[in-house]
Amino acid sequence: MFSATSLSGDKPQQYAQLAGQARALLQGERDRIANAANLSALVYHALPQLNWVGFYFHDGVELVVGPFQGLPACVRIPLDKGVCGAAASSRRTQRVDDVHAFPGHIACDAASRSELVVPLVRGDELIGVFDLDSPEPGRFDVQDQEGLEAIARIYVESLP
Ligand code: SME
Repeated sequence: MFSATSLSGDKPQQYAQLAGQARALLQGERDRIANAANLSALVYHALPQLNWVGFYFHDGVELVVGPFQGLPACVRIPLDKGVCGAAASSRRTQRVDDVHAFPGHIACDAASRSELVVPLVRGDELIGVFDLDSPEPGRFDVQDQEGLEAIARIYVESLP
């Protein structure tokens, strides 16, 4: 049984612990659905003030929802729509302090106020995005971004 110990220390230390837990959780498993499901659950329960954590996968045309924790979400997101589409098409992390101020933001859960979306890219291939929503404005700072980009890399490296 996997057991996640609670995180301690300052934020970079906490993300280093979380990355260790993520590596242990994904160790020896290469199934993209299984690993996305377990990572969503790990992060959702480890970090405070989140209302949605999950994956969207690129199907060659648009983003399609994958494993997640939180309320049911929009199934398909075109690459030119929303924070997720912006992260996927620019291949750059989108850190949005106030989703209401983001043009084209897609409200899946009305409680969401800030959002971090990390693109999942391997070589030239767009795999999808790792998306986190918070009910608190400005929930994600640069340290959160760096920590969650590291978690996203662990996911990409786990794939066959
Ligand atoms: N808010 C996202 C849509 C996905 S949900 O947050 C789960 C967006 O604007 O792309």
